[in-house]
Amino acid sequence: MGFHFKLIGYPITHSLSPWIHEQFLERSNLQGTYKIDEFKPEDSFEENIKRLKNEQIDGFNVTVPYKQAIIPFLDILDDTARKMGAVNTVAYKNGKWIGYNTDGVGYVRSLESKYPNLFNNKENRVLVIGAGGAARAIYYALDQYEFSNIDIANRTKATAEGIIEMAHSPRRTEILSLEEAEKNAGSYELIIQTTSVGMKPNQEQAIISSNNIKLNTIVSDIVYQPVLTKFLRDSAKKGAMIHQGHTMLLYQGQYAFEIWTNKKINIGDMDTKLKDILEGR
Ligand code: ATR
Repeated sequence: MGFHFKLIGYPITHSLSPWIHEQFLERSNLQGTYKIDEFKPEDSFEENIKRLKNEQIDGFNVTVPYKQAIIPFLDILDDTARKMGAVNTVAYKNGKWIGYNTDGVGYVRSLESKYPNLFNNKENRVLVIGAGGAARAIYYALDQYEFSNIDIANRTKATAEGIIEMAHSPRRTEILSLEEAEKNAGSYELIIQTTSVGMKPNQEQAIISSNNIKLNTIVSDIVYQPVLTKFLRDSAKKGAMIHQGHTMLLYQGQYAFEIWTNKKINIGDMDTKLKDILEGR
């Protein structure tokens, strides 16, 4: 009895998702399990998916390297997942397998929980650094939340072009080089670092210098290992307010759990608990 969820991906033995979802189950007083199911690259993905579907589970999360590979095996794709071309959450509802992407909404929820006032003025200027899958999800979600001035900076400018086509008002997005981003960093109210630069074992790197970041700018980094990146540390020294990547994991999970169970769990002290777990590693 109860809910049965899984995580598929490779390698995933160190994933934080089981901890997050077991906390959600406990906090919602629901019975259930959340288990890791590592799909080895040498095994047939199709066979593994067939086996999984026969297990009568209620849903599963999908992580690297299968976020695209899963798509042909689903019955329905939610709009956001279709736009992203990537699925990280699958729910079994009324006999159908439905694919979602919770990255963007999870990110925006985590930001709003810490800095609600930012959302009072959707004209606030936003800079997204990076143009990979995470940048795409965040850009799309901020656009859906009607932020109207979102620029993108990337090492390869051409990659960023593909992202802005999704926007309500793409003409209001400028594409910058990393050098331009560094120079103009003072003209944004929110700067979001979405690349892997600064992640362990390269924790002494930062995507751009924080020299021009102004007082009270919100600086966000989706890297969560370390929980306090060099980019955030340097920006805090300039008087920026920071937003750490581990909170995105929690709110992404919150949204997935809500899709599966219709229950929205209060994150509360899970933020500090997860930070402690990450810092203990
Ligand atoms: P994900 O899908 O997880 O977001 P990704 O697709 O690997 O990750 O995206 C990586 C992003 O980080 C890209 O914007 C990449 O820049 P390019 O488009 O120029 O490749 C950026 N990136 C990765 N390593 C980088 C580095 N050392 N310096 C600058 N940008 C980097």
